[in-house]
Amino acid sequence: MQGAQSRSERDRWTFYEAIKLKPNDQGRDMTPRKAMDKSYKKYLAQLKKDPGGFYIFAEPLDESGGHPANFVDYECAFAADHLSQLHPHSILDVGSYRHFILGLLAHLPVTTIDVRSRQPICAKETILTGDAKKINLPDSSFDVVLSLCALEHFGLGRYGDEFDFYADQKAFAEMIRLLKPGGRLIFTTTIHRAEPSIAFNAHRIYTYETIQRFCSALTCVDEKFYNHQNRGFCSLEEITSDLKWWDVYCGCWEKK
Ligand SMILES: C[S@@+](CC[C@H](N)C(=O)[O-])C[C@H]1O[C@@H](n2cnc3c(N)ncnc32)[C@H](O)[C@@H]1O
Repeated sequence: MQGAQSRSERDRWTFYEAIKLKPNDQGRDMTPRKAMDKSYKKYLAQLKKDPGGFYIFAEPLDESGGHPANFVDYECAFAADHLSQLHPHSILDVGSYRHFILGLLAHLPVTTIDVRSRQPICAKETILTGDAKKINLPDSSFDVVLSLCALEHFGLGRYGDEFDFYADQKAFAEMIRLLKPGGRLIFTTTIHRAEPSIAFNAHRIYTYETIQRFCSALTCVDEKFYNHQNRGFCSLEEITSDLKWWDVYCGCWEKK
């Protein structure tokens, strides 16, 4: 990025114009509005004339419009909804979104396991670093086990763990082992209506049948499906049948 730092402001403007003409990864049109083009230059000139003690430099961005929700919002909402009904005393998180866990720590202590190391920045977090397929904790330790968008990655090496075709099955068995009887497993993962596939080494893509097999020792409390195309929850029949693409499964299951 040294080049970007040393560009003149004129070049920076051209640079940002160029990158904003691409749609973002949710297909949202990031082309700046014409009105913003005009007002931007006007207000930049005004700020430079009267900077009020600030150093002013150009970094034009236009992120107006609706807030860009995507599948992660829906996964987090699903988990938050279930957690809020449960009032658990003990939670194990297995590889979920870091920001979600840090928010959860405002209310509850959480033990987290992830193969990547994290800094202990909140006293309520007990950090374990290691592979989810073998967790060194006693059986029936937690009221809730949470795992958002992680299962499909285990054993593929993307995050530095060792290659193991069966790592997802082993990790899932660990999550069940660590739940107390009557405890809840809340998890999200990839799903499509085609044969199970592996986009190596990004992730696996499961079928509904595979997920049901994973959960065969549990009782279903709630299931939801997220469809990228409609950007919202949908029925099982509406999830993608594209062999190389995926939608999202959200499940809450109880240990008998
Ligand atoms: C898609 S990410 C989930 C979100 C991510 N934690 C974040 O905050 O953006 C999957 C997580 O699973 C973790 N992970 C991958 N393989 C793992 C394994 N075998 N055991 C434990 N954690 C693993 C990764 O380090 C990563 O943090």
